[in-house]
Amino acid sequence: MPMITFVRPDGERIAFDAGGAETVMHAAVGRQVAGILGECGGSMTCATCHVFVEPEWLDRLPPISAAEDELLDATATERRDNSRLSCQIPVSEALDGLVLELPEAQI
Ligand code: FES
Repeated sequence: MPMITFVRPDGERIAFDAGGAETVMHAAVGRQVAGILGECGGSMTCATCHVFVEPEWLDRLPPISAAEDELLDATATERRDNSRLSCQIPVSEALDGLVLELPEAQI
């Protein structure tokens, strides 16, 4: 039961059990979290699943691949040190408590 929390730019928090989803992007799209579009379905070509990861979680996520790093340069909202593409974060029990901030824009 990995509980994941998304924080909108206005501070509203959306928390839910992401269990059963393949990735954090899929979990968010499945719950219709406004602010995660996932237009490419996770094939890493759109950058519309951009999130900012709460710093304490950064080292607990899979490392950024070269392709993800490159695509993060094309996000609608400028990347930060804690930027990730949520389609590259597989859901697992280890993510229980993960907090992700939504960017102002995805397109
Ligand atoms: S869903 Fe398109 S890059 Fe993540």
